[in-house]
Amino acid sequence: MCGITAYRGPTAAAGRARVALERLEYRGYDSAGIAARRADGTSLHVRTVDGVASLSGPLEARGMDATTAAIGHTRWATHGGVTEQNAHPIEDCSGRLFVVHNGIIENADVLRADLLAAGHRFATEVDSEVIVHLLEQALRPGRGLGDALAEAVRPLEGSWAIVALDTRSGALAGTAHGSPLIYADAGDGMYLASDVGAVAPMIDDFRVLEDDDVVQLDGDGLRWHRADGSSRPRGRWPVPQTALLASTGRHRDHMGNEIDEQPAVARRVIDALAPGISDGRLWRGLGLPPLDGIDHVAVLGCGTSLNAGRAIAGAFGRLGAMPTRSLIASEAGHEVWEPRTLVIAISQSGETADILRALERLPRDGGPVLALTNNASSSLARRADAVIDCLAGPEIGVAATKTFIAQVLTGVCVALSGLSTTGRVDPNLFASELRALTATPDALAAALETWRPTMTALASDFSRASGFLFLGRGGGLVYAAEGALKLKELSYRWAEHQPAGELKHGPLALVDAGTPVFVIDDGDPRLEVDIAEVTARGGRVVRIGERVLRVGGLPLHLPRRGPSWGPLETVVPLQMFARELALRLHRDVDKPRNLAKSVTVS
Ligand code: F6R
Repeated sequence: MCGITAYRGPTAAAGRARVALERLEYRGYDSAGIAARRADGTSLHVRTVDGVASLSGPLEARGMDATTAAIGHTRWATHGGVTEQNAHPIEDCSGRLFVVHNGIIENADVLRADLLAAGHRFATEVDSEVIVHLLEQALRPGRGLGDALAEAVRPLEGSWAIVALDTRSGALAGTAHGSPLIYADAGDGMYLASDVGAVAPMIDDFRVLEDDDVVQLDGDGLRWHRADGSSRPRGRWPVPQTALLASTGRHRDHMGNEIDEQPAVARRVIDALAPGISDGRLWRGLGLPPLDGIDHVAVLGCGTSLNAGRAIAGAFGRLGAMPTRSLIASEAGHEVWEPRTLVIAISQSGETADILRALERLPRDGGPVLALTNNASSSLARRADAVIDCLAGPEIGVAATKTFIAQVLTGVCVALSGLSTTGRVDPNLFASELRALTATPDALAAALETWRPTMTALASDFSRASGFLFLGRGGGLVYAAEGALKLKELSYRWAEHQPAGELKHGPLALVDAGTPVFVIDDGDPRLEVDIAEVTARGGRVVRIGERVLRVGGLPLHLPRRGPSWGPLETVVPLQMFARELALRLHRDVDKPRNLAKSVTVS
């Protein structure tokens, strides 16, 4: 989503903030800007709608090397159009103060009206602008920037990570509430950033601002005010591996490389977690109560993480016969919760506001919360009772691919480990699930190799199709959902998934001559009828995961029971198809329009 960087040090502060910003650009990329203070007390302010790289020229031309304090921002628009005027940093009436903000100020309209009445002049359409004018009011003579910022945020409602720059003193101040912000000392200067990835190569460790902490960075160094009145920040976190940017490998985009990495990611997860399954060690190590003491499981997530949760739910539900629900995090507030429910909150970024909000609304006397994330120092990880890292490594493409595989496998390992000591599962069935799990890396590798040429050819065939259907039944349905999600995100074409049995109850009306219909075949014989209904109307069926032998020209279904989490490898050709079609349509597959890698607004 939006990204914040800030630096205070002896020289080239604007350049440092810009380089850090470039590392965050994949997270939100509508517009960008830098404000800085030169050593002589003058200020510099550059904004663009053309990407962070385009800030370099104007910054150099305006004396970037002589700057000692700077703040930067890359924006994902919520309020106000994508224009240079609406880009951050946003300045106060006098041009002395600048502010960058992530999050949403829910009462911005009311505050704006008050500030206008008090004589402030507004230059943008964005909710964030109220912050800089509130700060302008709060920064009275003799008062530090940090104290002024603490007062300025008092009337705000919503969520924020804010960094302010006083170009007169060169001080920086930051605060956070429901949106991430970290501090790091790089030895030759101090950084603030909304994501450790921005500054990962420059630092060894970092500290996290808890809600309502305020920090001030000035000539005297760092001052930290915690919301409870203490001035000691919480402990340091080491830089996670996920924060280091990856290469694109042999592809021109990160997504292509991330799809190819999936067998290796699967192997890493299984090597790390599978040894703790059979004796329940993995489950116990998480500090969760025995599964016998849990009556319900609820998986919570958004988008691809929700789909991963649905696959994991299969292991608890189909295999363990536990009552299991998968919940869209943004709708979870409407749920009725049973006691003794284990909540598994799934998020690759660990910063998704919808998830964090859903956790806040859980009943206090409910069951434990397990965070499954690719970011062990994230807000989600810090708020959960137990945390498991899905070990996907850095994922740069906005569309989740390898994190999906890693989430499913991590969650399945945890589920199997929890179930292993309950006596809920027949030992032979358990053994066959374990075999399926350990065979996954090879199944993913085979899917990559088998489907690549077909998906390239299909992308060409279907390049003019305006809509796509994805069908599945049972354990295959979640992969149909993920295929449709990938396709719409990347190609900007309409795509929907349906339980195949529902087709005849309405969606069949969408099928016409040539309509592409992807069918995730998990071996359910009823799919034959669904497919026949489509082909009878001229639809073009692409069957993924076919388990049919032809005997004397007739199809013979192999009696095969897939694992409880469904045919995971079928997602690979669907990811490849979405990427191939998007490339053919000249889309930016790493940065699809209107989307962001970390969705920090709810
Ligand atoms: C899809 C995608 C999004 C995310 C969703 C949740 O490719 O990337 O649908 O899955 O925004 O994000 P996290 O996992 O960070 O909570």
